Amino acid sequence: MRVILLGPPGSGKGTQAYLVSTKYNIPNISAGEILRRFCTKKKSVLNKIHYNTKNIIDSGNLVSDKLVIELIIERVNQYDCINGFILDGFPRTIVQAQSMQEQNITIDFVINFYISDSAIIDRIMGRQIHLKSGRTYHVKFNPPKRYGVDDITGELLTVRKDDNTESVKQRLAQYHSHTKSILDFYYKISQKRSLHYFTINGDRPIIKVYNELLDILNKNILIK
Ligand code: AP5
Repeated sequence: MRVILLGPPGSGKGTQAYLVSTKYNIPNISAGEILRRFCTKKKSVLNKIHYNTKNIIDSGNLVSDKLVIELIIERVNQYDCINGFILDGFPRTIVQAQSMQEQNITIDFVINFYISDSAIIDRIMGRQIHLKSGRTYHVKFNPPKRYGVDDITGELLTVRKDDNTESVKQRLAQYHSHTKSILDFYYKISQKRSLHYFTINGDRPIIKVYNELLDILNKNILIK
């Protein structure tokens, strides 16, 4: 089962990707996570590309298609993706979407989360993450058992450097300028072959969104 989750910043892609990946035991591939790791290598091996990428992410702009495509295609071709994967945050441009098609990586589900721009800021501003695993919490909507501490490892949670109003505005602008063409791209494919394309209201509690998502996946998983 190969699933793409699309949606603006804070719409819950990462939260739902983690839940679905655990449920179906398939890898959760977050483009943002992979790029953040790419920028946090040892100082001795860091070069201009790593520094530039970090600056781009912090400012809320999109990293170059070339780099993202290279990293994601390499990841989805790894052995643990043989039974599928959940892609969170890729593709974000039409070039990225086409790159998967060119590599014959077929997708079974495209799920698009929508949420109002006003709800996004509340979500982003209360987010805390566990760096190593990518687990995501929210101080109000999804708090850890102990404030500031990861439920599973007991390690400290952190706040992403790009979780500030300026960067979120830029991420939203990027999202709005590219999304329509990506949605059109997948909609057209869904008319020709068995790609299941759904839109989900992400502006509801996590469990409600999750239940709807599971329902969609379970109902359509065997229908090819
Ligand atoms: P990325 O890390 O993907 O950030 P993003 O797209 O801005 O999305 P977020 O991670 O902010 O939101 P999310 O939808 O995952 O929400 P989450 O589940 O965490 O990308 C970061 C940067 O990397 C980009 O800006 C760009 O620079 C670069 N990049 C990444 N991919 C790229 C690509 N393909 N091409 C080029 N550049 C790329 O939820 C948010 C908060 O809300 C959490 O605290 C969570 O607990 C809470 N929450 C979640 N769901 C709910 C709910 N239903 N109700 C209440 N609270 C909720």
